[in-house]
Amino acid sequence: MSRFEDQSVIVTGAGSGFGAAIAKRFASEGARVVVSDIDQDSGARVASEINADGGTARFIPADVSCEAEVQALMEGTCAAQERIDVLVNNAGYSHRQNLTWKITVEEFDAVFAVNVRGVFLGVKYAVPVMIEQGGGAIINIASIGAVAPRPGVTPYNATKGAVLTMTKGLALEVARHNIRVNAVNPVAADTGFMKKATGLDELSDELRASLISTIPRGRMAEPRDIAAAVTFLASEDADFLTGTSINVDGGRSI
Ligand SMILES: NC(=O)c1ccc[n+]([C@@H]2O[C@H](COP(=O)([O-])OP(=O)(O)OC[C@H]3O[C@@H](n4cnc5c(N)ncnc54)[C@H](O)[C@@H]3O)[C@@H](O)[C@H]2O)c1
Repeated sequence: MSRFEDQSVIVTGAGSGFGAAIAKRFASEGARVVVSDIDQDSGARVASEINADGGTARFIPADVSCEAEVQALMEGTCAAQERIDVLVNNAGYSHRQNLTWKITVEEFDAVFAVNVRGVFLGVKYAVPVMIEQGGGAIINIASIGAVAPRPGVTPYNATKGAVLTMTKGLALEVARHNIRVNAVNPVAADTGFMKKATGLDELSDELRASLISTIPRGRMAEPRDIAAAVTFLASEDADFLTGTSINVDGGRSI
């Protein structure tokens, strides 16, 4: 029996990186997946890859920082799939690495708009649906940088600290409605995110080696590692877990 047979799952930022792997993992375990992304081409491509592979997916575009688009995402999902069993708030990005006082106000506001307002809006429009249907699960993608920050990405890490605090507070608010809220804290992975944060098209060997040197397991995170943790938190095996987070970090934060 598949763990998510017929469940209705939304993954934001699912056009690449972690989100694409999360969407594919849910689909491979029987879920009907809404692949959402601000980028139409990549989001539509991931949805068709899932369908070509025998899964069930549809693409609904949304910029998670835009209230009207998030509302339309939730309404579109309910119109097509009747329910929202799982919401994965994965969309996010980082400003270019820099010392905090060198980051512009525009960069600061933009990263909070996507990473924090985006999670808030997802919650604002999905939770009433979950309450009405009698339950659900929300998984927020935060970062190991929220738990054990390093220099150079402080406003970004602060957004993920806010996500962890929202995860805990919201878990208390919705526990009686049979809704669980948890988070995953990934360590560095070689996705589009890393390219934006470093400004590099490809990670240099030196940078890769220096990142890996801080991770006891001796490698960077892979999207499959994040997908495994997210699907566990969404599954019945995690029925008694709420308001917590899993560090998917190969030991980096110890
Ligand atoms: N890669 C890492 O090292 C790392 C580490 C810790 C946490 N994270 C977090 O993981 C999540 C996924 O990142 P990733 O590594 O897969 O990067 P990625 O760049 O490959 O994927 C992010 C996706 O989000 C989409 N997106 C960006 N802004 C959006 C918006 N406003 N609305 C909707 N979609 C939007 C992008 O189009 C992209 O498809 C992010 O929340 C990121 O902060 C990444």
